[in-house]
Amino acid sequence: MNSQISWQNLLFLQSIEASAAYLKIMSEVWGVQVRSIVEIGVFDGRTSKLFRALFPDAFLYLIDPWQLYDEYLSAEAGPISKMQDDYENAYREVKETFKQDQKVEILRKTSMEALDDVPDGIDLVYIDGNHSYFHVKQDIEHWFPKVCPMGMLSGHDYNPSYFPGVIKAVNELFPESVVLGQDYTWLKQKT
Ligand SMILES: C[S@@+](CC[C@H](N)C(=O)[O-])C[C@H]1O[C@@H](n2cnc3c(N)ncnc32)[C@H](O)[C@@H]1O
Repeated sequence: MNSQISWQNLLFLQSIEASAAYLKIMSEVWGVQVRSIVEIGVFDGRTSKLFRALFPDAFLYLIDPWQLYDEYLSAEAGPISKMQDDYENAYREVKETFKQDQKVEILRKTSMEALDDVPDGIDLVYIDGNHSYFHVKQDIEHWFPKVCPMGMLSGHDYNPSYFPGVIKAVNELFPESVVLGQDYTWLKQKT
């Protein structure tokens, strides 16, 4: 293990039970220096704030259309709300939270629309947008190439009770080599 942080801190991170904390642990375990993070699906920025706190030097690309659309209204997609007002409020909150942060780019776009706005060689891409099989597969196929060698591709809701589409897409694309962690996080390191 190449970790620079103490066991006490590792145990503390584990107790947070959130994807961002788990990804911090794994970046330490694998010795991945995380200088850039893409979060696909941001909503009110709860995880973005944790990313900022745990990876203070990383540049964050926060991608979300904050806009209801037909394919996001199905049960399989798992919309976090069905009211557009909630997305407008969440977007405002994210803008307010990061207004002084020079190392954040907020992209009010879908993950496919934002592809060209993000450079190659990202250290960590975290997928938590549309949870349908089609969209998760599409996100993995388009965003894995943007991850740098030894970097990490991850996502949320590897949860058989609620999101079978996430599991199907992840298992299909990474049949033997996905790592599972706290808060239904899945993770793949690019070799
Ligand atoms: C579960 S929420 C994200 C929660 C956030 N990652 C967190 O941990 O607090 C899913 C978000 O994905 C966004 N979304 C839906 N379709 C998307 C797409 N095609 N590309 C990017 N984001 C999308 C929704 O607008 C919603 O805000």
